[in-house]
Amino acid sequence: MPTDHRNPARDASQNPASSAVPSRASNPARDTSQNPAPSATQVVDDSDRAASSTGQVTKPSSPLPPPILSLRGVCKKFGSVRALDHVDFDIRAHEVVAVVGDNAAGKSVLAKTIAGVHPPDSGTIYLDGRPTLIPTPAAAHELGVATVFQDLALCDNLDIVANLFLGREARAYGVMKEAAMEDIARSVFGRIGARLPSVRTKVAALSGGQRQSTAVARALLGSPRIVVLDEPTSSLSVTQTAEVLNLIEHLRDLGYGVMLISHILADVQAVADRLVVMRHGRINGEAPMADVSYEDIIAAITGVPNDLTRATQRRADAARAG
Ligand SMILES: Nc1ncnc2c1ncn2[C@@H]1O[C@H](COP(=O)(O)OP(=O)(O)OP(=O)(O)O)[C@@H](O)[C@H]1O
Ligand SMILES: [Mg+2]
Repeated sequence: MPTDHRNPARDASQNPASSAVPSRASNPARDTSQNPAPSATQVVDDSDRAASSTGQVTKPSSPLPPPILSLRGVCKKFGSVRALDHVDFDIRAHEVVAVVGDNAAGKSVLAKTIAGVHPPDSGTIYLDGRPTLIPTPAAAHELGVATVFQDLALCDNLDIVANLFLGREARAYGVMKEAAMEDIARSVFGRIGARLPSVRTKVAALSGGQRQSTAVARALLGSPRIVVLDEPTSSLSVTQTAEVLNLIEHLRDLGYGVMLISHILADVQAVADRLVVMRHGRINGEAPMADVSYEDIIAAITGVPNDLTRATQRRADAARAG
């Protein structure tokens, strides 16, 4: 796994692919000694509370960049099921935010809300601090949100290039520009550091990790700033998992904001800068990864009150009141 990680003291307005590369130790989202300021949903004093409800960064002196994307008070119901219940969520450039929770906690619905699949019933999504509607997956793509859903949605009988460009093939005078598409495919894989066989290999012949890399590469076509990964390692071997975790770290290094949904706490602890725990559609814990123990996470997932859940609840209540 790479150890030379880039610094997220980062300008979210930068093109992710061209960002600088300081070390992981200086990542304020991981290293709380250098990260005295709260995230946008964390509140430490009254001024923070007021700002938090607006979706803006809470402290003027914060070394953290403002979130690219923020959700405030987002709700989504399916019949009587409250899949999302007043969810506040932020994601910044150069940051891996892990979202964990038990089955049916609302993780995938949260991802799909950001991806334009399930627009919220109420609440607000902010992009660069501005209220924004994400009514469709096409709108999400336009706004720079790339999502890799759990099922990957790859066509086994097509090769890697065909999967990457399915439905958006490069053409000249009606003829597909195969060489150009191959070049773009190789360049995207090179950029994300994925090791794959020929880009003309059928997807059916790829390993789980390679399939995940292919789905990520397809999502990165266009110019996303946020990459949402729903359970990217759930069915992978140890080696394939390591490949995907490397890929996630590489995406962070390139400047993307990465939302990592996972059941596998070891993976989350390995790569995440910040942890968000969901339970019954609510945020039941949020903290820098370095500040939480395995026991804290399990307690928040299973609903046992602890310091993490109580602090998160206090911040949420204060944000709503403020
Ligand atoms: N399209 C839908 N129609 C109706 N209910 C849905 C739909 N999508 C999700 N739900 C419900 O919303 C709740 C949250 O589902 P979600 O898929 O987000 O869970 P999850 O946290 O991703 O769980 P898992 O870990 O099992 O993937 C569940 O009760 C689920 O049944
Ligand atoms: Mg899910």
